[in-house]
Amino acid sequence: MDYTLMHKNIPVVDMEILSDTGRIIKLYNLVAPEHLPLGVLKKTEMSRKVMDEWWTGRSIPASRDGIQEALAKLDGVSTSLLVTKCYGLSLSDQYWVSPKGSGLLWSDVNFFTNDFSKDMGEILFGYDPLDAAHLSLMSPDNTSDGWLKKKWIITGGRRFLMKGGSGVFGQEPFNEVIASALMRRLGVNHVDYTLTQSDKKPYSLCENFVTPNTELIPAWRIKELLKRDNRDSEYVHLMRCCDTLGISGVAGAIDRMLTIDYIIANEDRHYNNFGFIRDADTLKWLGFAPIYDSGTSLWYNTRYVGTATESKPFKKNSDAQIRLVEDLSWFDLGCLDGFADECRQILSQADAIDDERREAIADAVIKRSERIGLLQKELTTTSVIGNNP
Ligand SMILES: Nc1ncnc2c1ncn2[C@@H]1O[C@H](COP(=O)(O)OP(=O)(O)OP(=O)(O)O)[C@@H](O)[C@H]1O
Ligand SMILES: [Mg+2]
Repeated sequence: MDYTLMHKNIPVVDMEILSDTGRIIKLYNLVAPEHLPLGVLKKTEMSRKVMDEWWTGRSIPASRDGIQEALAKLDGVSTSLLVTKCYGLSLSDQYWVSPKGSGLLWSDVNFFTNDFSKDMGEILFGYDPLDAAHLSLMSPDNTSDGWLKKKWIITGGRRFLMKGGSGVFGQEPFNEVIASALMRRLGVNHVDYTLTQSDKKPYSLCENFVTPNTELIPAWRIKELLKRDNRDSEYVHLMRCCDTLGISGVAGAIDRMLTIDYIIANEDRHYNNFGFIRDADTLKWLGFAPIYDSGTSLWYNTRYVGTATESKPFKKNSDAQIRLVEDLSWFDLGCLDGFADECRQILSQADAIDDERREAIADAVIKRSERIGLLQKELTTTSVIGNNP
């Protein structure tokens, strides 16, 4: 079937999408090359392969908690076909597809200003839809990323992402709230998470930080823009890509993100778990996105709190990764007075976390914060020595 890829109100390119697989097999009639998803235009040629990867990347990942059970309730529709059921619309960017000749308008279909169906969210949460005979698949849940159970909800006209936990401790929602508290104290730009419940299970809730005029471009798309020179580290390569695009303030924002990730021992800051914001109309880069998705941290899936954990995205070991931070002048250990108690208070709401585990997490977080304090002193001394004639 033929569609036009739209960026808000701008027709970008026509394309043919196979009705049985949802894959893009042909691109033609390019009218707005500057609005193509980042990386699709290779010099002057469009890459159908990159476009198809970008498009299929909009679908719910196969690793999503409960996805097979959900798909079974939808007569075996695949995740890639679900994307076309909602015209590819999401709440994280402004791309969508308009069936050729449909005359659809962004103002009529977008999920930022129009209501959306709850059916898909309910199915993903394990329920049967309220009205199975009149199921509507117009939902941003068809295009949401990540492996944890999640759904978008509208409360008081505002859009919130509700996200669950995993494993024995189900700790991720609590971790999101702890990470928010940490970033609030340190003045780091972040998405604020709160706790909620559904069916007596804990979930985190965060408001959409994307507006109808902006969009989130994950770091993954930025780093894929250039081929990495073998002499460049992953970190230097990302910086080079940001420089090429003219995105400013990146080093300072990454210093903050790596510091937060060190303190909470975040294991999963992959390139789709941070990104950049751009103006969807003017395409102007607005900077680093507020920090989101910090739940895979605080020894969420192990009994051995405080032990060494993996890190991402630049170095596999958090002690090595924190060494990439160049400026800690913004860090104020004094702002963390009382933070251990705040962690305890948040974790005390988690039924699966006993006193011993709660204490161990609060202790570990403080120890890691103190190490940042030491590193800050070290960096200040080094720069003073470095500045001496
Ligand atoms: N507050 C938000 N506003 C807009 N988009 C968001 C927001 N929170 C998350 N997203 C988008 O939704 C995606 C999935 O959310 P998130 O990363 O929190 O889920 P996850 O299941 O924890 O992911 P992962 O598989 O990385 O653990 C994000 O990658 C991002 O694109
Ligand atoms: Mg994520």
